[in-house]
Amino acid sequence: MRTDISYVHGLKCRECGRSYQKEPIHVCEYCFGPLEVVYNYDGIKNILSRDVIEKRPCNMWRYRELLPIDTDPKVGKDVGFTPFIRAHNLGEVLGIENLYIKNDSVNHPTLSFKDRVVATAITKAIEFGYDTVACASTGNLANSVAALSAEGGVKSYIFIPADLENSKILGTLIYGTNLIGIKGNYDDVNRLCSEIAANYHWAFVNITIRPYYGDGSKTFGYEIAEQLGWKVPDNVVVPVAGSSLITKIWKAFKEFEMLGFIDRVNTKIFAAQASGCSPVTTAIKEGRNFIKPVKPNTIAKSIAIGNPADGYYGIKTVKESGGYGEDVTDEEIVEGIKLLAQTEGIFTETAGGVTVAVTKKLTEQGRIKKNELTVISITGNGLKTQEAVAKSVGSPVIIEPRLKSFQERFEELDSEDVKLRR
Ligand SMILES: Cc1ncc(COP(=O)(O)O)c(C=O)c1O
Ligand SMILES: [Zn+2]
Repeated sequence: MRTDISYVHGLKCRECGRSYQKEPIHVCEYCFGPLEVVYNYDGIKNILSRDVIEKRPCNMWRYRELLPIDTDPKVGKDVGFTPFIRAHNLGEVLGIENLYIKNDSVNHPTLSFKDRVVATAITKAIEFGYDTVACASTGNLANSVAALSAEGGVKSYIFIPADLENSKILGTLIYGTNLIGIKGNYDDVNRLCSEIAANYHWAFVNITIRPYYGDGSKTFGYEIAEQLGWKVPDNVVVPVAGSSLITKIWKAFKEFEMLGFIDRVNTKIFAAQASGCSPVTTAIKEGRNFIKPVKPNTIAKSIAIGNPADGYYGIKTVKESGGYGEDVTDEEIVEGIKLLAQTEGIFTETAGGVTVAVTKKLTEQGRIKKNELTVISITGNGLKTQEAVAKSVGSPVIIEPRLKSFQERFEELDSEDVKLRR
C-alpha cells in the first residue's frame, strides 16, 4: 500500500465554502460553520479501484486514500472490516425478506464503531505533532480513545458524564488514562470540553480535530457497499447521537457513486433515537430543519446527546435520502436487544436495541417494505451495558451437583423451554 501520499487538499466550510489549510481546526472563522475535509478525487480515481481495494488486508485502511491521513496509520491497524450478516431469523420476525446486519459490536479493539473515528483522529493528532489527545464522550468514545492512545504512546484526558455504565468506566480506566467524570449530562461535558480545548494544547478528537475524526466513520458505509458486492441497500437504519455517523454513511455511498464503484445511490437513510433523547427524529417528524435541544432521560446513554453537534446535517441527510426518523421507549430498547440476541445470537448495547426496535416500528408503519434490502447498523457491544437488561433476562436454574437433582428439574424445564429462553 502507498505510504506518505495524501489525497487531502485541505478543509472547507460546509456553509460558506471558504477554504482552509490542513490544520487542527474545526470551525469557519467567518461564519462559524463546521469544516470538512476536501479530497483530490481525480487523484484518488487514478489509484483506487474495486480491484485494488479487494486485494488489500481486511481492515478499514483498505480505503486509505479516502481517509484524511498523510502517513501510514499510527494506531488501530486492525480496526474495521467487521462482519456483515444476512439476518434470516430476525428478518422473519420483522417481516423483512432481505435483512442484513452490519456488526460493529465486534469491532477491534474496543467493540464499537468508535474505533474507526478514533484510529483516524489519533493518527492525525500524531501527524500534527500532539502528545496529548482528549475527548468528550458518552462512553464508547472514551473506551476507544483510552485504548488507542495507549497503543500510540500519547497521553489522554477523557471527559464523561459521571453516571455512565460501570463497564464503560472500567473499560476506560484499564488503559491507564486520565478519566474525568463530570456531574452533569453529555451536553454539560461537551460545553466544558470546548472551554478546556481553548486553554490546553490537546487534540480533542471530537472537537478540535472533528473534521478528520468524522471521516473515519465513512468506512462503515464503504464496507456495507463492498460487502454487499459493490452495491448499496434500499434502506439503512442508523443510531444517532451527535449525528456524525449518519452523515458519513451517506457521504461514503455518494463518494463510491462518484468514483464509479457503485451504481446510482438510491438509499433511504433512517435515523434511530431513544424517545428519552430524540432531538433529531423529533425534528424530522415535525418537518423542522433545526434542532430544539432536549434534556436526555434514557437507558441508551451512548446516544444520549440533547444538543447534537451535527444535528442539522443529520436531519438534512435523512431528508435528502428520502428516509425518516423514529424513536422508541426504554422498554422497546430492551426488547430490541433481546430480539437481536435471541434471533441472531448478537448481543448489542442499548444503541443497537434502539436500531432494532426502530426498524421494527418503521416496518410496521410501512416505511420499510418487506422486499427491500435493509441494513441495520449495530454499532456497540451489549457486554458494556449489562445494567440495561440485567432485570429482564431471568436467572440461571441452580441445582445440586447430582444427576437426580437435574432430572427432577428437567421435565419441568423441558416443558418450560420457552420460559428458560426468556
Ligand atoms: C454505540 C453508538 N452508536 C451510535 C452512536 C452515534 O454516533 P454519532 O455521535 O456519530 O451520531 C454512538 C455515539 O456515541 C455510539 O456510542
Ligand atoms: Zn464559513
